[in-house]
Amino acid sequence: VSGRMAEQSDSSSFTAAEHFTTRHLALTLRVEFQNRRIGASAALTVEALRDELSELTLDTRDLKILKITANGQEVKFALGNKHCFKGAALTISLPFKLLRGQHVVVEISYETSPEASALQWLTAEQTAGKKHPYLFSQCQAIHCRSMIPCQDTPSVKSTYYARVSVPKELVALMSANQDGEMADDKDKSRKIYCFRQTVPMPCYLIALVVGSLESRVIGPRCRVWSEREMVDAAAYEFEETETMLKKAEDLMGPYVWGQYDLLILPPSFPYGGMENPCLTFVTPTLLAGDRSLSNVIAHEISHSWTGNLVTNKTWEHFWLNEGHTVYLERMIGRSMFDEKYRQFAAIGGWKDLLEAIETFGATNPLTSLVPRLCDTDPDDAFSSVPYEKGFALLYHLEELLGGPDIFIGFVKAYIQIFAYSSVTTEDWKNCLHSYFSDKTEILNKVDWDAWFHSPGMPPFTPHYDTSMNDACITLCKRWTIATDVELDCFNEGDLKEMTSMQKIEFLALLLLETPLRLNNVKRMQQVYKFNDVKNAEIKFRWLRLCLRAQWEKAIPLALEMVTVQGRMKFTRPLYRDLYNFEKACPQAIETFQKNKPSMHPITAALVAKDLHLV
Ligand code: BES
Ligand code: ZN
Repeated sequence: VSGRMAEQSDSSSFTAAEHFTTRHLALTLRVEFQNRRIGASAALTVEALRDELSELTLDTRDLKILKITANGQEVKFALGNKHCFKGAALTISLPFKLLRGQHVVVEISYETSPEASALQWLTAEQTAGKKHPYLFSQCQAIHCRSMIPCQDTPSVKSTYYARVSVPKELVALMSANQDGEMADDKDKSRKIYCFRQTVPMPCYLIALVVGSLESRVIGPRCRVWSEREMVDAAAYEFEETETMLKKAEDLMGPYVWGQYDLLILPPSFPYGGMENPCLTFVTPTLLAGDRSLSNVIAHEISHSWTGNLVTNKTWEHFWLNEGHTVYLERMIGRSMFDEKYRQFAAIGGWKDLLEAIETFGATNPLTSLVPRLCDTDPDDAFSSVPYEKGFALLYHLEELLGGPDIFIGFVKAYIQIFAYSSVTTEDWKNCLHSYFSDKTEILNKVDWDAWFHSPGMPPFTPHYDTSMNDACITLCKRWTIATDVELDCFNEGDLKEMTSMQKIEFLALLLLETPLRLNNVKRMQQVYKFNDVKNAEIKFRWLRLCLRAQWEKAIPLALEMVTVQGRMKFTRPLYRDLYNFEKACPQAIETFQKNKPSMHPITAALVAKDLHLV
């Protein structure tokens, strides 16, 4: 056992998951838009894992605790000092001692803060419909504690039930199956929505949305939800959801969560997608209208197995969630299209890895696959590394052990063995060794320590088939070396045979080169008209290219893109490029300061760091 992986307790949480564990959570929430608070009660069914248990420590962040009972009896509690990203420990003294295996129901009455980091409260003006306010949550990685006092560690899994009271013209949804709705007897202007999640899951998957929402059925288990303004476009864009879900089941076995719905959020949603059970959250920036089949849905569907069934035990093992999910996402791509397509996607991922390691610096400890997070906010550690170094390791093993059809057998076995539990890298590696017990010699040749613990690029570069990339590589080369006279040779026909994905790849390749000459980007706009493109992945890379070539005309366009949407994958690199462009830097800071109050709290915190404001 490597010393670095022996410590398994979760340094991102105050709770002692080895002393007690939460089995069930019963939530009663009253969502109040006027004062941006949720008035709540959380009843945790807690099981003692040791004898003599009389003190429980839970995670909280900016919560106002009003009253706590244990089995109905009022008890004493204390809130510790606030830690900058972990929040404050809530210590509850039980008036009795529990023996191993005994349960207690701890009920906490509390209120959230308007600054809760898990929640974004949108005014009616910030919505598409402009008539009703909107609320959504984002708990991963450690923001659940700002919405619910809980054991905020992915090593603990519980079922949950919830009753949510909201203004009656609005709809509430959660990461659970719907369990009816009723009038709120205490308040005629309100309505109560009920939910039940019967599959035990980590609390970072608890999710809530309240807004003027509508749905369209897109399959036997699938609906899309959004404000009315986008719902038909979304139904069209995500038509293939059920097909992808079936492909995933062919690979991984039955989907156990019941419904698989999609929620299209307002543009400030900080991620591309979030795998909230029964209800994946997705960014509206996927609605480009070109149906350039995005990988985001295949990715979030895959999490229904990798992440949601088998969960990383702590955030240091986050690559187990994301690396396997990217692996499955690309296997779904392979079965929807072909192996060449998977190879193309894998090469794109390798380039994302190069870029992430360049941004963090090749000696930065956060670029190792299993980083140490004792003093690091998981939001600060977030990057493509766990996704793409994780994928690269799995793909490397696939090559060594006999190819995709053999390796997928291991991934499926890994899921079956660890379903409904949480795992470390050590558990995963042991499982790999026992599955391939006839291939120990091959496995022993892998430089595990370098893969897991060395920063920078992986110790081995896998082999990829570049046939779908060749056109992108050729065109990229032509543009990088073109002198003024050679610029005439380009015309709109250059892109004619290329898919949206290949255009993205072409721009991504250019971004890895030294900045283009200003005349070259100007000519590129003339012939390819990228400024008019709706596809956010293309537009984002194009604007970065222009900023790096110091084209002033791109400044207002980039400032617009960081303002009208808040997906961090786009917003953060654009802000960083604006910051590094002397002419744009003051405007970038000014734009950020102005928009900050209406930005998502997580995005605002990270962009402030990107702009060196904190
Ligand atoms: N679970 C992640 C999003 C996440 C990670 C939120 C860590 C908070 C903390 C989600 O599954 C994800 O990876 N989304 C990607 C999609 C992409 C890899 C296809 C994204 O948001 O871009
Ligand atoms: Zn993911």
